[in-house]
Amino acid sequence: MSEHQPLTIGLFGFGVVGEGIFHVLRQTPSLHATIKKICIKHPEKKRDAPADLFTTDYEELLNDPQINLIVELIDDAEEAYKIVTTAFTRGKSVISANKKLIAEHLPELIRLQEEHNVSFLYEAAVCGSIPVIRNLEEYFDNDLLQSISGIVNGSTNYILTRLNEGLTYTEALLEAQQKGFAESNPSLDVEGFDAANKLTILLAHAYGIVTEPGHFLRQGITRLHAKDAAYASEKGLRIKLVAQARKLADGKVAAFVLPQFVRPDSQLFHVANEYNGVTIESKLADKQFFSGKGAGRYPTSSAVISDISAFSYRYQYEYKKLKRPEKNALTHNFYLDVFVSFSAWTDVNKWDFEEVTEYHSTAERQYIRGVIHADKLRSASWFADRSVSVILQPEALIEKESRVAQSIKKVSLQLAGVTLS
Ligand code: HSE
Repeated sequence: MSEHQPLTIGLFGFGVVGEGIFHVLRQTPSLHATIKKICIKHPEKKRDAPADLFTTDYEELLNDPQINLIVELIDDAEEAYKIVTTAFTRGKSVISANKKLIAEHLPELIRLQEEHNVSFLYEAAVCGSIPVIRNLEEYFDNDLLQSISGIVNGSTNYILTRLNEGLTYTEALLEAQQKGFAESNPSLDVEGFDAANKLTILLAHAYGIVTEPGHFLRQGITRLHAKDAAYASEKGLRIKLVAQARKLADGKVAAFVLPQFVRPDSQLFHVANEYNGVTIESKLADKQFFSGKGAGRYPTSSAVISDISAFSYRYQYEYKKLKRPEKNALTHNFYLDVFVSFSAWTDVNKWDFEEVTEYHSTAERQYIRGVIHADKLRSASWFADRSVSVILQPEALIEKESRVAQSIKKVSLQLAGVTLS
């Protein structure tokens, strides 16, 4: 077993999580980790820690030869980029919870940490307290991993739960903000960007795919309409914001972040409030479900503390799947079974659908249920229209091979004179 090294930490940020880490570390002497300096933006704020710990000067931390670990917990991804890359070039290891920074700069961050032989750990960036990154990195072998899917944003799950309990959207969002779950710019949560950032990170550790969050289908929860919720409850379903990646029969990987109807027999149905839930499916182990608090001071702190402990034993992500000769790649060549609701019948082009299985029209809201190619959905002008809501059916993904087989069956039945409804 490797030797446990004492740590001197430079902490950036004293917000919800930063303050949590400060208090938890003081109560965990066994970690042998001491915070030497804390860099903050607003020195005038009153803080529950000794005043001489604080500075507004980055360099006091980045230039201090005694500081061997930077813990970066600020929410400005651009500032965080400067801090993290400077720390690497000065030979300091970094722990971060900044999913936006990581998702947007992963290739460079991987290259820099290798060049400077430092650790960069970020378990807290995805699913709060659920140890999903190390799990994917260490336990699940690339070839065996079929899919990873789940609720990865605590704020939206909290809002959806509270909406079900009768709160208005504004009330529910305010609560998520007050409880410290939401990003300081909450549109990152509610528009699905945060979930897309997390899925980008998961794709690297699950499949060795380094992509950008803008490369896959994404929609958040802001377009959901009261009639969508009524449709869900009539059918005994719930709406959740689900991030998912699945390996298809052709070996490529489908990935997307979209609202989805979930059935009571799905574990995600029961994931409430700020909890996250992730199902990892592999050929041998079948399905494994992980659930835990995905946002908030102490759940996020628990992941940062676990990274601090891992780093004290010199743990580094090896990015094993990224380094394999056989590369995985994303694809948009698949179909989705979707529910689309909108205000006027002309808002959505019905010819974009391969097949429409259900439609309904009232003065207030119309909807279509149908099968659509993922690329067609991505490029449809109505997909970008803020008044149109798109929700996946519970078993939404249809592989192109089974779609072709279905069409052939339909045509041959028609040729044989069988009338199809
Ligand atoms: N705003 C994020 C969420 C915080 O609600 O999930 C945790 O990443």
